Amino acid sequence: MNDRQNTLRINADRFRKRFDALANIGATTDGGVHRPALGPEHLRAREWFLMEATAAGLTTHVDGAGNHSAALSCGPAGAPVLLLGSHLDSVRYGGRFDGALGVLAALEILQVVKEAGVALETNLEAIDFTDEEGTHLGFLGSLALAGAITPQELRHPGSDLGVFQKALAKAGLTENSILNARRAPSTIAGYLELHIEQGNRLNTSADDIAVVTSIVGLRRQKVTYIGRADHAGTISMKERRDAGQGAAALMLSSRRLVMKEFPESVVNTGAIEFSPGAMNIVPQRAQLTLEFRAPKPHDLEQLGVALQQLVYAEARERELDVTIEEVDGIQPVQMNGQVQAAFVAAAEQLGLSHRRMASGAGHDAQVMAKICPAGMIFVPSVDGCSHSAREFTEWEDCINGANVLLQTAVAGIPSAD
Ligand code: HGY
Ligand code: MN
Ligand code: MN
Repeated sequence: MNDRQNTLRINADRFRKRFDALANIGATTDGGVHRPALGPEHLRAREWFLMEATAAGLTTHVDGAGNHSAALSCGPAGAPVLLLGSHLDSVRYGGRFDGALGVLAALEILQVVKEAGVALETNLEAIDFTDEEGTHLGFLGSLALAGAITPQELRHPGSDLGVFQKALAKAGLTENSILNARRAPSTIAGYLELHIEQGNRLNTSADDIAVVTSIVGLRRQKVTYIGRADHAGTISMKERRDAGQGAAALMLSSRRLVMKEFPESVVNTGAIEFSPGAMNIVPQRAQLTLEFRAPKPHDLEQLGVALQQLVYAEARERELDVTIEEVDGIQPVQMNGQVQAAFVAAAEQLGLSHRRMASGAGHDAQVMAKICPAGMIFVPSVDGCSHSAREFTEWEDCINGANVLLQTAVAGIPSAD
């Protein structure tokens, strides 16, 4: 890399201005954002992204899975593209840094490289992946680009199928366009992502940057207990077949199981629904979400087996029926060694302290790792908050992360020796 490239830095004011403008799209009154994938706020944020890219003199395109990109030809003819990105969709009532930071850093980097007129070994593309958060189907956009999504999965979204298909239509997407969004791996030099840590380790360490070594695997299920609706006042406690009790028991017993036997894993019930859902009716049906994560494939598999036994045991104990519907999931993955080394070199060149870290959150990088050298860096989350309006990262850390991403993109990923 020559001196000119070494001295490239992001335009911090422009980066901040864009960050604040984006945070206003789908803003909640408490400083967070609500931009569930393919909803109105998310579509507005994507339109805004394309306008910003066009105003920056970049070309733009949207693929069949709705992935939105800004592109810069800065490599030799026929050069592969280095993808830099993350996601503009958010969880329900989430934070304004998750995903947004990575997409805006990528956009800023393309603009800096364009303005500097720097020639690279690769072309550059800033990409916003569709539905990273799994409002409908986790990692929908990156899975489609990787050619790793099936028609069956598109017919069994985590949301209601009708709602999903309507949202796709509104965004101009079809099952076919998604299935045809696959990109030839030979055209992709690699994928780099800047993200907030979303946990407390970096925040409580003295380090500026974390270089991600691996990303957790996860599975998401819907568990439905079926009992019998009864009058809540007249039927004795003993006679009840209370579906709500089965769901509540599973929430508690799954947490006990993980804490006792799978200390490196986690389990979460993020939503629970009783029906008919009245004060004076014993719940006939109770559906809860069960999401569990483990750092290694074997642990993920073992945990899945143990949880399934628990689901059935809680049903048997209360004479309930029960079904388990697998929603989606992804295997744990190692981040590319050369990419990690490139991030370390860039952090050192910028005089930033760094550490290696496994990711407890899922990311599009674990999908992209299937088809190209992929890697991530984290910047600290204050108090480890994320997926909440309290999510916050100091602006200086955001700039550090974007400059490490810039220097890594400009240096390129050394090929495997
Ligand atoms: O849930 C996750 O780990 C990520 O934020 N989608
Ligand atoms: Mn994210
Ligand atoms: Mn997230």
